[in-house]
Amino acid sequence: MTRPASWTNPLRDPADYRLPRIAGPSVLVIFGVTGDLSRKKLMPAVYDLANRGLLPPGFGLVGFARREWADQDFAQQVHDSVKQHARTEFREEVWQQLLEGIRFVPGQFDDDEAFLRLKETLRELDETQGTGGNHAFYLSIPPSSFDAVVTQLKRHGMTENRNGQWNRVVIEKPFGHDLASAQQLDAVVSSVFPPESVFRIDHYLGKETVQNVLAFRFANQMFEPIWNNNYVSHVQITMAESIGIGGRAGYYDGIGAARDVIQNHLLQLLALTAMEEPNSFDAAQLRVEKQKVLAATRPPADLDAASARGQYLAGWQGGQQVKGYLDEDGIPADSTTETYAAIRVDVDNRRWAGVPFYLRAAKRMPRRVTEVALGFKSAPHLPFNASDTTALGTNALVLRIQPDEGITMRFGAKVPSTQMEIREVSMDFDYGGSFTESSPEAYERLILDVLLGDPPLFPQREEVELSWQILDPFLDRWAEHGRPEGYAPGTWGPQSAVDMLARDGHTWRRP
Ligand code: BG6
Repeated sequence: MTRPASWTNPLRDPADYRLPRIAGPSVLVIFGVTGDLSRKKLMPAVYDLANRGLLPPGFGLVGFARREWADQDFAQQVHDSVKQHARTEFREEVWQQLLEGIRFVPGQFDDDEAFLRLKETLRELDETQGTGGNHAFYLSIPPSSFDAVVTQLKRHGMTENRNGQWNRVVIEKPFGHDLASAQQLDAVVSSVFPPESVFRIDHYLGKETVQNVLAFRFANQMFEPIWNNNYVSHVQITMAESIGIGGRAGYYDGIGAARDVIQNHLLQLLALTAMEEPNSFDAAQLRVEKQKVLAATRPPADLDAASARGQYLAGWQGGQQVKGYLDEDGIPADSTTETYAAIRVDVDNRRWAGVPFYLRAAKRMPRRVTEVALGFKSAPHLPFNASDTTALGTNALVLRIQPDEGITMRFGAKVPSTQMEIREVSMDFDYGGSFTESSPEAYERLILDVLLGDPPLFPQREEVELSWQILDPFLDRWAEHGRPEGYAPGTWGPQSAVDMLARDGHTWRRP
């Protein structure tokens, strides 16, 4: 639709066309329900959806785990995690309604009896809660157990879509360890579920600010003309966390920063930043453009010069003494896992040729921040005295993904009461200041989309494989090196990362 030429959008009446998207009758079954993800994110997200009125009255939540719990014990766990981690306020009436559909199935993944009990539980919920025979199986478990679970689901007849009823599977990263293992995993899942029933979670795609990358680029006319190698000199995508690995040694060691978040979150951010405009936002069209840009993304020939890795040392951070990675509980003293990873990739197409994309991810950084920063070329000519522009800096456009959600533009401005001295300033858009609506948690959006069967925010198999194809050469090269370089906690990482950018004439941003 063409908008009327007006400075503001006249269609702003809030009582408008935005009907809420409410899930239909369904059951969410969570495998691995005693894990951190489930406790901190999934169960609270289910409650938040219920509290926002986005779940139907016919809804069930089933936990499956190796605990001798009764339904009430599991309900108590859900209750505690909701109280502790939910985003929205606790309302007894919402809780009571959710409670009616909460069930627990104790069992092991290789236990036929347990899956018979699960089947019976789903039948009972379909009957008593009116959940309509629609089931989403969320595998919040290590990939090594996917095979066992999906095979059991199939063997017990819980995977087929019949008479308009659906069964879907939701899988969490890591989607493999490298390209070959990702393909094996996929073969397992797709031997049981058709592609349209498989929902791969990359929770970054559920974040409002990540979806806004597309809104920003494609809803506006101002930015797209400069979004290319005529104007952009390089792009930095940063995911810095101030925390260490906490209690996640079992998951993290042997995985490391690159597999943990570059393979998925950061390469998805790269795809959204660099891709061409999709014909529409439906899943098939988005997929075409994301795949195209990932297929054009390659590591440079000199992998050592184009990457850096580090491991945090013991020291002080934020006034607190913190352990080094090797001293964390459960980490072998000779671990070579990186907690800092930076890579440079090139996007070999007309728009981006010659523009390096730098991706870095790390734990124990000075602060938690995720951002996509486009650094622009200098003006071809500066008609000022050289001494007046020393504080000009690099023009930049920064998409602030979190925690400080918004967008910043950095550019030069005249310093008042000087003849013509230029200094770098910024112009900010803040979500909090511009919208009264608060951002839902990524998992709220993604769980709702699974229940609605709405696929655009879920990476497809090809994207996952292309991402491994980009990362594998770095991983193979790193495997030949020994321990990563140490870096002090609360700093921006190892010297090799600084050198890596310096070689290209750039410096890392310190957000
Ligand atoms: C997860 C990683 O995918 O993302 C964690 O496995 C990381 O290591 C987490 O801490 C960060 O998520 P967020 O949403 O807080 O940026």
